Amino acid sequence: MTKILMVCLGNICRSPLAEGILKSKLPDDKYIVDSAGTANYHVGATPDRRSIAVAKKYGINISNLKGRQFSVKDFDDFDMIYVMDESNYNNVLSLARNEQDSSKVKLILNEVYPNENFDVPDPYYGGEQGFENVYNMLNEACTLIADRLM
Ligand code: 4NP
Repeated sequence: MTKILMVCLGNICRSPLAEGILKSKLPDDKYIVDSAGTANYHVGATPDRRSIAVAKKYGINISNLKGRQFSVKDFDDFDMIYVMDESNYNNVLSLARNEQDSSKVKLILNEVYPNENFDVPDPYYGGEQGFENVYNMLNEACTLIADRLM
């Protein structure tokens, strides 16, 4: 099993979308995909209705996911940790215990634009178009991630 974790701030907008999209591209007998937030604001909550809606539009159901907070144990449980933005990156790296932990953490858009350190923008305070935009960015990144894994 290869285990991949998607991380954002709240675990209700970006990372549940990334989880659903990547899961849809990988066989579930060989890959585990999960998501978490660096903050605890939305622990136990389902994804934002706008993330659920844009996923549904593209045939992906994320309505049953539940928010949880990233923890140090995730460094042991996952092989790859994709973060959405620089703030997530700094928050996750601040919990790393050693070089092995930190080497697992990558900005997801660097899969598409190597070394550019682009952020997936937080769509929480914007409109529906922001979620469509985030979906397209994550779909492009997850397509490349899945292609390289398989
Ligand atoms: P996410 O978006 O990190 O993509 O899940 C956010 C959701 C909620 C909040 C911030 C970002 N919030 O401040 O409640």
